[in-house]
Amino acid sequence: MDMKVNIAGVEWNNPVTVASGTFGSGAEFAEFADLNRIGAVTTKGVANIPWAGNPTPRVAETYGGMMNAVGLQNPGIDLFCERDIPFLRKYDTKIIVNVCGKSTEDYCEVVERLADEDVDMLEINISCPNVKEGGIAFGQDPKAAEAITKAVKKYAKQPVIMKLSPNVTSIAEMAKAVEAGGADAVSLINTLTGMKVDIQRKAFVLANKTGGVSGPAIHPIAVRMVYEAVNAVNVPIIGMGGIATAEDAIEMLLVGASAVSVGTANFYNPAVTMEIVDGIEKYMEAQGFASVADMVGIVK
Ligand SMILES: Cc1cc2nc3c(=O)[nH]c(=O)nc-3n(C[C@H](O)[C@H](O)[C@H](O)COP(=O)(O)O)c2cc1C
Repeated sequence: MDMKVNIAGVEWNNPVTVASGTFGSGAEFAEFADLNRIGAVTTKGVANIPWAGNPTPRVAETYGGMMNAVGLQNPGIDLFCERDIPFLRKYDTKIIVNVCGKSTEDYCEVVERLADEDVDMLEINISCPNVKEGGIAFGQDPKAAEAITKAVKKYAKQPVIMKLSPNVTSIAEMAKAVEAGGADAVSLINTLTGMKVDIQRKAFVLANKTGGVSGPAIHPIAVRMVYEAVNAVNVPIIGMGGIATAEDAIEMLLVGASAVSVGTANFYNPAVTMEIVDGIEKYMEAQGFASVADMVGIVK
């Protein structure tokens, strides 16, 4: 069986990656998961300079998932290039660097800096609900999304994946906007904005008041949005949102995602990605699919 997939010209060994921010930069999980068995490792978002993130508390459990307002804490691009890229390069996996910024210039600076680095793809996060500037400002307005895509494409040497927010009225419109800007692929969904109150303290649970909801509870919403995006554009889609089992991943592939990304489930089962790869393979065998491509988008 052929588990390989081709995403915007980059061949992954299998269709499974990890969602940005839920797998560190790989090193944090290397003890628990065999990185050689993951199609691609998507790193935590990295900015041009180090970011401290939001005040604590910034994570909370919710029904069937969690809520976070980490605020894209990261060490900055210099330390990332020096420490994280050489670590990941030791493994037989593709490297997707997730990029965040507060302005167009910030994003472009990181993308330009990565042009000569040995990484395979870039994922541009225009969908983080937890930072006040940048991020979501680009991710909720189709014109701004198209413009930021065009801007980063000028500096990018690697294929660019634009990561969309579900906190919009029309995901199809946002997917079309980034495709028009030159995106090589689209990934979705990022977290859905939520709120939680501690009734004893009579206060918000998160210092940020709101946070992004992720995990199995959001999966059906993610499947619907992936389906809508698939039907709006011609570039490959990487589907994510609440994937915790092979069945969840297969659903995404059947509605048209060319690959899948596993996030929150890594926190409670660090070996989940390998279980999902094995489960997809077993399903293909049982159903008589010779390649992953044969099953992508057959549910119309
Ligand atoms: C703790 C945490 C940190 C995250 N950090 C990032 C990030 O740095 N960049 C990004 O694009 N998405 C980030 N995300 C969003 C995930 O990549 C993913 O889109 C979302 O959680 C939905 O997938 P899931 O339900 O499988 O977790 C983060 C999510 C969580 C839970």
